[in-house]
Amino acid sequence: MCSIIGYSGKLTFAAPLLVESLKKMEYRGYDSVGIATLNNGSILVSKGVGKVTEVDQNMQLNKLPGAIGIGHTRWATHGGVNDKNAHPHYSCTSRIAVVHNGIIENYEELKIKLERDGHAFKSQTDSEVIAHILEKYYEKYNFSIRDTMTHVCEEIRGSFAFVAVFDNGVIAGARFDEPLIIGVSQDALFLSSDVLGFLKYTDKAIFLDNGDIAILENKKYTIFDNNRKIITRPITQVAWELGSAEKGKFAHYTIKEIHEQSDTLLKPFEASNDFETFCKFLNTASNIYITGSGTSYNSGLLGKLLLSKYAKKKSEVYMSSEFQYFSDTVEPNSVVVAISQSGETADVLHSVKRAKENGAKILSIVNIPTSSLARMSDSFLSLNCGPEIGVAATKSFMGQLMILYNIVFILSNRSLRFSVKDQKNLQNLVKRALDLNDKIKDVVNSFDTNLKDIYILGRSIHYPIALEASLKIKELAYIHAEGIAAGELKHGPLALIDKESVVIVLNPNDETYQDIISSTNEIKSRGAFIIGISNLPSDLYDVFIELPETELYLYPLVEIIPLQMMSYYLAIQKQLDPDYPRNLAKSVTVK
Ligand code: G6P
Repeated sequence: MCSIIGYSGKLTFAAPLLVESLKKMEYRGYDSVGIATLNNGSILVSKGVGKVTEVDQNMQLNKLPGAIGIGHTRWATHGGVNDKNAHPHYSCTSRIAVVHNGIIENYEELKIKLERDGHAFKSQTDSEVIAHILEKYYEKYNFSIRDTMTHVCEEIRGSFAFVAVFDNGVIAGARFDEPLIIGVSQDALFLSSDVLGFLKYTDKAIFLDNGDIAILENKKYTIFDNNRKIITRPITQVAWELGSAEKGKFAHYTIKEIHEQSDTLLKPFEASNDFETFCKFLNTASNIYITGSGTSYNSGLLGKLLLSKYAKKKSEVYMSSEFQYFSDTVEPNSVVVAISQSGETADVLHSVKRAKENGAKILSIVNIPTSSLARMSDSFLSLNCGPEIGVAATKSFMGQLMILYNIVFILSNRSLRFSVKDQKNLQNLVKRALDLNDKIKDVVNSFDTNLKDIYILGRSIHYPIALEASLKIKELAYIHAEGIAAGELKHGPLALIDKESVVIVLNPNDETYQDIISSTNEIKSRGAFIIGISNLPSDLYDVFIELPETELYLYPLVEIIPLQMMSYYLAIQKQLDPDYPRNLAKSVTVK
């Protein structure tokens, strides 16, 4: 998604700070970037297509004079990726500039009206209507900034957060279903999509509520609630560690985060997570629904299997984008376990809201405890795995699985051997899987660079891992990949297999082993190249990736690691940037 930042403080030059903040939030969207500053009563805008560093180099963003300003990185929704559509957008007179995250659903009708009234549009974005409506009230009707903001928020529909800079030195923002946070320090005020935008300067954050308008003026902030009454919102102290994300010795965040997993897998148990309360909700619920998007959905799928197999608990799992269509049957006494690294994914928030309206309790598993999802939950558990910058989720997946395993451990009356007390074993296990790094690199380097399709087969608890692996390969290497429940092979996908196919089989020596061997024979006889991931070797495998021995039910935690590394090295082989895959954003805050 897009990231937005507004700054008003003591600095004489705001631009370098704005550029730095945008770099920190670039994971949210990175097709174009821009800033606007106020200099001697004039608003200056500089923007362009590309990553922050590139555009900064080309346009000298950080040289833009002016003491206050706003900034934006874009993930295009309306209008192509070009300089004109990059934010900020000016009003006709350039007395206002605006940055926006989200979607203005009624922008077409608003645009027609505004054009009829003489406003000239310079972009194809939905966002630009905000600048022109601000202009209408602030300049034409001479309204106060508060009234101007109120009217704009009444006219536009959709989910949005925007921040505007006015030529009188005021910065104002509004939050409607997209995150917007005020950062408060002695020397400065910020309005940002993410605490990472200002965490270098302050750990004091005010999380705006839906419908809030915030005005930063004369070193003070004022917040107006939905009824446009001045309101005091609590100041939250956020953890400084949230901001400490450096690549260290690694070439990319993605591979760094993969390697961090032997440490981060234990982090949920270092946070003040109340597993017992969470599990009580699950124990007393009439129905359990699990929901999430992308990687978080895949961990939910594994959660369902583990709950069924080891805690004998029935649950249903839905992709969040689909869950809304089942909300009619979510009963009051049910619980929804919503899984989301960011806690800001629009599909998740939307489906949870619907379930909440039906009276369901909301339990969430998040990495950001101050996120919208955590704040709307009856109970939440934190992954506590630090910032995940790589767009493709890796260490957060591991953290989600650890939490789900621990929930199952508690709900199964601790009958599984896995417990927090076995932490050292788990850590060693993951470390041994990470030692496969060089082997995986070599395997990938032996692949044809024009590889078109990869299939990953797994049954039972390995099937969600097959899906997660295929998602990683698609996201990072832009290769068509399909996770297949191996039993389904003969019902269709087998038709796709030929001598060109690469098939990965997830085959630890558990109850699924013999059936997977049968499927492997079937694909082998069609000439496919087979990579076996298992603790047992087989002549059927062209490449054998040996997993360390462990309890059978723990294999999902181990087998995902070589697959994450494979996806990463496939991206490297194709000279792609694994941290910022094309067309994707880490946190998708629009539906
Ligand atoms: C986006 C990301 C995915 C991620 C999904 C869910 O689509 O590109 O990598 O899995 O959102 O994100 P969440 O923050 O809700 O876990």
